[in-house]
Amino acid sequence: MREKIVAGNWKMNTTPAQGVELLKGVAAGMNEVCDCVTMVVAPPFTHLSMVAEAAKGTNIHVSAQNCAAEAKGAYTGEVSAHMIASLGVEYVILGHSERREYYGETSETLNKKMVQAYENNLIPIYCIGEKLEERKSGTHFDVVRQQVEEVVFNLSADQFAKLVIAYEPVWAIGTGKTATADQAQEIHAYIRGVLAEKFGEAANDIAILYGGSANPGNAAELFSKPDVDGGLIGDASLKPDDFIAVAQGFGKC
Ligand code: PGA
Repeated sequence: MREKIVAGNWKMNTTPAQGVELLKGVAAGMNEVCDCVTMVVAPPFTHLSMVAEAAKGTNIHVSAQNCAAEAKGAYTGEVSAHMIASLGVEYVILGHSERREYYGETSETLNKKMVQAYENNLIPIYCIGEKLEERKSGTHFDVVRQQVEEVVFNLSADQFAKLVIAYEPVWAIGTGKTATADQAQEIHAYIRGVLAEKFGEAANDIAILYGGSANPGNAAELFSKPDVDGGLIGDASLKPDDFIAVAQGFGKC
């Protein structure tokens, strides 16, 4: 069985103290979420230590939203994968479209970040997805193929086995426009097929999350699709009740 994952990407929201309250709110609702779902929260760097501490003893896992491409040294303002892992953080989101678009992250940078993540035993949540023009011109399959080939194809089989992928169409992020469950299923199945070209059967064990205006109203339909293994949730992860309600999209097993 593939892992089911619901991850909250808090982006640049909340103070550290508010982040701890948010974590506690999610923890309080965990008994309403099926045990089969792995719950992850990704606060800003400044909150990681406090949130990781508060998450101890809960079933909530903690992720960073990014890490440096280099191991250590004279890189002012950067935060290394080693620093993140030393806090007990288990995941790192890499290649989010906001980082690709606003901070110029390329496949070259992301390959280096992947190396750092794996060297420090962080599980990468690698984000891919097309822009609106690319969807309209029908090149979305080529776009995600390229994002997979240029980065994921460089992983060893052992590394690949620990990877999580998040498909997030840029036109659906924070816009209130969600891909339909059928659109998500279509492209998730395609992505899995591309992964299988390189990694064979192992592609069936990789969780592919959907992200982009997923919310309590559409989660159940999205998660009902065979290749949609969970969600990377932005806005709806900032309210404990909404985040829990999204995770309940998997029902009880
Ligand atoms: P959204 O963000 O749920 O607010 O659209 C998702 C994401 O960017 O990870």
